[in-house]
Amino acid sequence: MPELQIRRLQSAEDAHLCAELMSTSEPWLTFERSYEDARQLVTDPSREVYVAFEGDAFRGFLVLNLNGVLNGYIQTVAVAKDARGGGVGSQLVAFAEERIFRQSPNVFLCVSSFNTRAKHLYERLGYREVGALTDYFLPGKDEILMRKTLGPWRTTILRA
Ligand SMILES: CC(C)(COP(=O)(O)OP(=O)(O)OC[C@H]1O[C@@H](n2cnc3c(N)ncnc32)[C@H](O)[C@@H]1OP(=O)(O)O)[C@@H](O)C(=O)NCCC(=O)NCCS
Repeated sequence: MPELQIRRLQSAEDAHLCAELMSTSEPWLTFERSYEDARQLVTDPSREVYVAFEGDAFRGFLVLNLNGVLNGYIQTVAVAKDARGGGVGSQLVAFAEERIFRQSPNVFLCVSSFNTRAKHLYERLGYREVGALTDYFLPGKDEILMRKTLGPWRTTILRA
């Protein structure tokens, strides 16, 4: 397992690394998410954005939306291309869960219907399909809403 330092996004260089990774990776290539779109997302003050480094090497990032109906939503997880398959994504999701389970017993995320490897990973990490948002970004391509839960709101003690 890589030894990651995960911290809040804090500089223009951090934002550049995230936007470059997102705009050159699937599934966002399919959705034609531009570098500028991605940069706007990672610098949106209403989101919590975390970057992961192994020493000086950028390994990936997370965008969390902790407001709104799905209060506890992993909006984006992306791992540097040359680090994929090495456990970084699983560590980023675990980090997001630590953060979200302090305020909600549910973590939500969406995965594109054609991103079968990522969906398989989320299932292995305990996420279950809630439903399909059909034709969400593009015709014929669904977003699958998934949830990992500690239990019902009224009977679950949130993590300290
Ligand atoms: C999906 C992603 C975040 C997973 O992170 P990761 O560090 O590669 O994942 P881990 O090493 O922790 O876990 C490996 C698992 O991820 C799956 N996986 C998904 N996409 C993968 C990819 N492009 N390369 C390698 N493994 C990938 C593997 O199938 C593997 O599952 P298994 O262990 O059951 O065989 C990462 O591959 C990535 O950034 N992909 C491109 C962007 C993306 O699809 N983001 C998710 C949007 S919902």
